[in-house]
Amino acid sequence: MSKRYTITAALPYTNGPIHIGHLAGVYVPADIYARYLRLTGNDVAFMCGSDEHGVPITIKAKKEGVTPQDIVDKYHAIIKKSFEDFGITFDNYSRTSAKIHHNTAQEFFKTLYNKGEFIEEVTEQLYDEEANQFLADRFVTGTCPKCGNEEAYGDQCENCGTSLNATDLINPKSAITGNTPTLKQTKHWFLPLDKHEDFLKEWILKGHKKDWKPNVYGQVKSWIDDGLRPRAVTRDLDWGIPVPVEGADGKVLYVWFDAPIGYISATKEWAEHEGKDWEPYWKDKDTKLVHFIGKDNIVFHCIIFPSMLKAEGSYILPDNVPANEFLNLEGNKLSTSKNWAVWLPDYLEDFPGQQDVLRYALTANAPETKDNDFTWADFQARNNNELVAIFGNFINRVVVLTNKYYNGVIPEPSDYTSIDEETLAAVKAYPTVIASSIERYRFREASQELMNLARLGNKYLADEEPWKVIKEDEARTKTIMFVALQIASALATLSEPFLPFTSEKLKKILRVALNDNVSSSDSTKENCIENSWEDISTKDILLPAGHQIGKAELLFNKIEDKTIQAQLDKLEASKLANEAANKTIEPQKDTITFEDFTKLDIRVGTILEAEKMPKTKKLLVLKVDTGIDVRTIVSGIAETFTPEEVVGKKVTVLVNLAPRALRGVESQGMILMTETPEGKLVFVNPDANQETTNGLQIS
Ligand code: 2FM
Ligand code: ZN
Repeated sequence: MSKRYTITAALPYTNGPIHIGHLAGVYVPADIYARYLRLTGNDVAFMCGSDEHGVPITIKAKKEGVTPQDIVDKYHAIIKKSFEDFGITFDNYSRTSAKIHHNTAQEFFKTLYNKGEFIEEVTEQLYDEEANQFLADRFVTGTCPKCGNEEAYGDQCENCGTSLNATDLINPKSAITGNTPTLKQTKHWFLPLDKHEDFLKEWILKGHKKDWKPNVYGQVKSWIDDGLRPRAVTRDLDWGIPVPVEGADGKVLYVWFDAPIGYISATKEWAEHEGKDWEPYWKDKDTKLVHFIGKDNIVFHCIIFPSMLKAEGSYILPDNVPANEFLNLEGNKLSTSKNWAVWLPDYLEDFPGQQDVLRYALTANAPETKDNDFTWADFQARNNNELVAIFGNFINRVVVLTNKYYNGVIPEPSDYTSIDEETLAAVKAYPTVIASSIERYRFREASQELMNLARLGNKYLADEEPWKVIKEDEARTKTIMFVALQIASALATLSEPFLPFTSEKLKKILRVALNDNVSSSDSTKENCIENSWEDISTKDILLPAGHQIGKAELLFNKIEDKTIQAQLDKLEASKLANEAANKTIEPQKDTITFEDFTKLDIRVGTILEAEKMPKTKKLLVLKVDTGIDVRTIVSGIAETFTPEEVVGKKVTVLVNLAPRALRGVESQGMILMTETPEGKLVFVNPDANQETTNGLQIS
């Protein structure tokens, strides 16, 4: 039965492009869900947009010497394009700087204000005297009172996930000047979450929300069990939506107050554009509201936003909030500041036209129940062993053989064998099996079921061997190919939510109609078969005999080791650059006198022999000709240079350093080394022209 759905995907902050973690955690699962619901005939409003307020955007603008508007304009365009490129089918991708959003958020605030739903209170907040501004959220860092993390932010500790008020921080520091803030009085409006505790307990804990994912339910329960406190929904900032009441000059709505209202404004904007009424999507009890988010957004979507909606009074509440855990990259946390990420624009540059491979790899390995790791090796294996070897291989064999044997015209089958019947019956079960996984937000499982259908096709062809049978039984070959073509057709339809680009390509090859949501300009429904999701279960024939299909085209290409290595090298370079950037430069040592310096006897020497000091990692034992004598010097360079590399090298030697024993070997001097700005250890090289000079001229 058709139903109305409002599906939202967390509005990304507009201070950088988006990476694979965002795609895996929120946007791909939300898109699979939305596509599936549309395919099964539901009325879907899939909403998202750019989250353009908040302190990180202001900080970035300050750093780059531009306005916050410049920052959000730049990244809104980049992010929007990435979503389009990856086939994320939002019905509307809006932005919170849009006028319709400012109006909607202000109206929402005023409704709650007029209903007396806020507490108005003057409190002491952190203030930076030098920067002349209040410090909230990311403008202040300090020690988390819960876990002791010294780099917690004024709104949240990223180490333990606790949501904080800036004044909770121990030893707070301004992120603008580094100064210790003072306290200054200011008026703000607070949403009394404690007042909504009973409703939340009833709705989530006693209600039917036990079917929420355990990570979501568990986090919400622990929040409620800890006791809820009033939460400020306004800020003293100059970037954001002005607070629309008297006596609020210089104050804006807290970004987490306005951002979720962005889902509503996006729906209004879309409805206006489509000539629809937005209200049923947010106010009709029969509408199912689902928020797709990352785990750091749970409290805002399960406690604060529902309390706001409830306080307003005319809105529905979310039916589910399927939050994912985090995706790591090659064993480390994804990090924008450390550039430890795979950015979507970069991926597309390196893997043009291969959006489905990433969508698939991220879905098959999605962080649904625990944090997961994205590795390039797994990405390659998913592509080569599953998409190429199973899905692509099956389709290719079917299409090539149909063209070869029958000029692309689907042959008339004869009687089915029991294997044919079992296979076709098994195909019919897939829409329900995949749907059941999707409806329970188990997208990994769903993607594996899709692959199982391709496996079924592959196995059927391998067992029935039409390429052998054709030599003795043409009629049987026709039946085999007919059955295989039905499986190919089922794959074309059922793969759409997961592999939309491949599904479109395959539908074009099989001359199956593209569904209305993705129909491209060159596709016509003429000579095309139409198959809905449900048809795969109910129709006996998906592609009839006599139907003409197109030529074979490879759906996926093998990814070579060198391509994967290039990505690993890119990450390694990023790591090194980051290490170099974070390297602490030692402060200059105390001044020495000229007389001190003249005491150093520095000469040019030649390394005659070198060997590793047994049982150490760092030490080389060198025999060095200093021009005065040949002596032993122990040098800590073994991690950078092999003995073979240094033999014969001209080096600079401090010859009058007091001898000292290292691991039982007396070292009689020191080879002078230094570091490049990148942190690489290098020899202090004697000038080639002075190779024969003994001693250093100090004039
Ligand atoms: O965590 C984030 O990226 C937030 N910008 C998500 C906002 S979701 C919603 F409330 F808009
Ligand atoms: Zn903490």
